[in-house]
This record gives sequence, structure tokens and C-alpha cells, in this order.
Amino acid sequence: MLAIIGGTGLTQLANLEITHRQVMRTPYGEPSGAITFGRLRQHEAMFLARHGYGHTIPPHEVNYRANLWALLEQGAKRIVSVASVGGVRADLSPGDIVVPDQIIDYTYGRAFTYFEGRDSLVTHIDFTHPYDQNLRRQILEAARRAGETCLDGGVYAATQGPRLETAAEINRLERDGADMVGMTGMPEASLAKELGLTYAAIAVVVNHAAGRGSSRDGVRMENISAVAQPAMARVRNILECVVECDGD
Ligand code: HPA
Repeated sequence: MLAIIGGTGLTQLANLEITHRQVMRTPYGEPSGAITFGRLRQHEAMFLARHGYGHTIPPHEVNYRANLWALLEQGAKRIVSVASVGGVRADLSPGDIVVPDQIIDYTYGRAFTYFEGRDSLVTHIDFTHPYDQNLRRQILEAARRAGETCLDGGVYAATQGPRLETAAEINRLERDGADMVGMTGMPEASLAKELGLTYAAIAVVVNHAAGRGSSRDGVRMENISAVAQPAMARVRNILECVVECDGD
């Protein structure tokens, strides 16, 4: 079954015909909220709001382990993660939708692995391609069918937050090779890999990163929801085509 993890601006799916909600507990604690089950274009799907349904959980306090564990336990096979980002690369503007293909992780202090404790075997997952290539292609194909422009590839820099970056930090991220910056991409992607889940992301550019373009003198959070709303409507169109792809 397809599972969607919604980020800022996507706390529900308008066209999901909801059948039920399930509150879950996991060995890693509680997920961000109940999992919503329903039918999207006649296909079963589930949805979880990463920051909670009232958007109360900041990026560094999201229980990524519990979220993915709960989705796996409920039968998720493919997970599409939706996240808002700041555009680092000069040609990425607010409103752009990107399917990233790489990650650089700058987060710290988060619960980032299932392989811990004395009973756990030393395990090194391969993370060369952090996102599932096939699911990435399905998303891009879904976007094409939905008639939504969606950029193929880009490096997602995951920062710790909750504060935004300094202009110098953004310059450094760009030197490192980052195209976009967000706070929730890690450890979500590597935890999904540890669980063997098919996982990919849709990144929605909601602002120019600090010091760039319209954010040259600061990132104005009040502008973000005006950009996010129409962009997330386009993401919903894409997701409705992703659910139709044969993947489960
Ligand atoms: N930086 C980090 N995370 C973000 C940003 C940003 O500029 N915009 C949306 N999420």
C-alpha cells in the first residue's frame, strides 16, 4: 500500500475518502499522530502528518523511528515523503517541485537508527542512492501525467533546525553541492532504508534559502504559506497519479 508522509502545508489529503484512523504505539514510542486510511482514486492509501495534525511537532522532535515503524506495521510498501524546502540553487524558486536524488545530512542528536544497543548486530546499510530509483521514476511519470512540472534530481541538505540557516551556512551548503535545504529529510530516509521500505521524496520549494533571492535580507515565514498552499495542491495532483502506478 502507498503511504504518504505529509509535511508543512500538507496535513491532509483532500481527495482521500477516509475509512478509518489508527492510533499506534511502537517499540520506539508514539508516531506523530494517528495514521489515516482511505481510498485515493479507488486505491488504498494511508497518510501521516509528520508534524502532527495540529502542526505541533518541530523537525528535531519528530519521532521518525516510530513514524516509519508504524507505517511498516500497517502494511506500507511505498512511502512518498512530502517536505518543504528552501531553494539553494539559483534556478530553484518558490513554487518549484523537485524529486531529489541525493542527500547531505547535517542533522545531529536525533534518534537516527534502529540498529542500536548491545543486542543489535553491527549493520551498515548501503545508502549510495538514498531514494528508491523506481519510486522516483513513478513520481516523475505521475507528475507528467498530471500535467505538473516537476524537476528530476537535486541534492537535499538536511539541517537540524528549528532555526533557519545563516547566509554563510547556505553558501557552505552550496559549496558542498546542495540544491535545496530542509529540516526533515533525515534521518527519515535512512531509517526507511534500514526497514527495507521503498521510499522517495517530493520537495516543495517554499522560499529562497537565507541570503538568496527574495530572502536576501531574511526569510519571511509569513510568505511561505501563500506559496505552499497552491504548490501542495499540485503535489496532491501528483500523488493521486502515483497511487495509480502499479507499485504494490
Ligand atoms: N531552510 C530549512 N528548512 C526549510 C527552509 C529553509 O530555508 N524552507 C523550508 N524548510
